[in-house]
Amino acid sequence: ATRALHNNANDISPLQIFVRAKKKINDIFVEIEDYVSETTRFVEGDVPISGDIIDKAETEQFKSYVLKVSGIREVLSRDHMKVAFFGRTSNGKSSVINAMLRDKILPSGIGHTTNCFCQVEGIDGQEAYLVKEGSDEKLNVTSIKQLANALCQEKLCESSLVRIFWPRERCSLLRDDVVFVDSPGVDVSPNLDDWIDNHCLNADVFVLVLNSESTMTLAEKSFFHEVSTRLSKPNIFILNNRWDASASEPEFQESVKAQHQERCTDFLIKELKVSTPKEAEERVFFVSARETLQARLKEQEGLPAIQGALAEGFQNRYFEFQDFERKFEECISQSAVRTKFAQHSSRGKSIANEMRQMLDGIYERANVMHNQKLDQKKKLTDRIANTEQQLMLVTREMKMKIHNMVEEVEQKVAKALNE
Ligand code: GTP
Ligand code: MG
Repeated sequence: ATRALHNNANDISPLQIFVRAKKKINDIFVEIEDYVSETTRFVEGDVPISGDIIDKAETEQFKSYVLKVSGIREVLSRDHMKVAFFGRTSNGKSSVINAMLRDKILPSGIGHTTNCFCQVEGIDGQEAYLVKEGSDEKLNVTSIKQLANALCQEKLCESSLVRIFWPRERCSLLRDDVVFVDSPGVDVSPNLDDWIDNHCLNADVFVLVLNSESTMTLAEKSFFHEVSTRLSKPNIFILNNRWDASASEPEFQESVKAQHQERCTDFLIKELKVSTPKEAEERVFFVSARETLQARLKEQEGLPAIQGALAEGFQNRYFEFQDFERKFEECISQSAVRTKFAQHSSRGKSIANEMRQMLDGIYERANVMHNQKLDQKKKLTDRIANTEQQLMLVTREMKMKIHNMVEEVEQKVAKALNE
């Protein structure tokens, strides 16, 4: 059953909600970009008389839309789904990330291991590398040991960030634009304000990793209290990790589980007020990160997952970890679409509206000008007609006069001849 579940990679991942939305909104902005550039070329003087109708300020305004739209496309291309992990030292934050990434990427171990923020994100290509805060230098990452050394070597500030770029193709979550943020233990002199300002404000999901052998601590609680005062309704998952330990005390397993479950859901519902009771049911899990990672590494070697088991009850814990991942994927993709793309789509709409209003104005002025010219033309033709008529009258009068004169002369001549 476990193998079948694992192989369900063919199933469409909920992360595709985000991936597809991103593609769609990008396609729309490509269209807007074409439209904006075309309009700008037009107002800049493709049409000979445009200078009479469109003033300089308007031309500048159109040019600024070109920049705005390409700016939005740029941000959009960098948009991703971000998940941040918090919890006390040694609870297994780094292990949970490794289990999700199906590889030993982040250093994990007993004692205080992660000493600054570590962000894992996907890159195209084969070579993993890391970049320290405040530097552009790409440092090679060849092994986990070397990565751990690189992270320890310099005394990094605990709230500074090391970015680890890992080949996308090695992990489906990275391929689908999920970015992982690992943190030092919240019990290690956290500078809460810095941590939240620098690493939490744009996170779509938070995962609180607890140690199910003990209980949620005050440090963990206060950190999330602070987070939820700064962000409106953060999405928080709680993992009761090291649940493999419960196998050694089967007689207490159910009661301990019930106790943890109640404390965790109360924390989300009553204390933080970030979840409804129904939501909270889907946010608390009992897992073993170390075991899940081991099982996945075995599977990659073509061996049965159970060879990674640490204790009795492996199947349930493995299943629960996969269940967590599914709920997590649904939550993060929906949340990221809402928070990131809603903003782009409203900016896109307002740019389209402003352009439309300006073009309407230009059309209006062109129309007025057209009518004025028609009017002038009419006046001119009226005047010509009038002149023609007068000319005709004059001519007719002249003709009459000449006629009369000729007649008079004829009469005079006849009279003279008669005499
Ligand atoms: P810091 O980085 O020091 O804050 O710790 P962390 O929360 O990242 O914990 P880490 O992943 O380094 O795990 C600490 C130790 O616990 C490691 O030796 C892990 O192998 C072990 N460990 C992690 N998860 C589990 C688990 O589910 N079961 C058991 N038995 N051990 C675990
Ligand atoms: Mg760690």
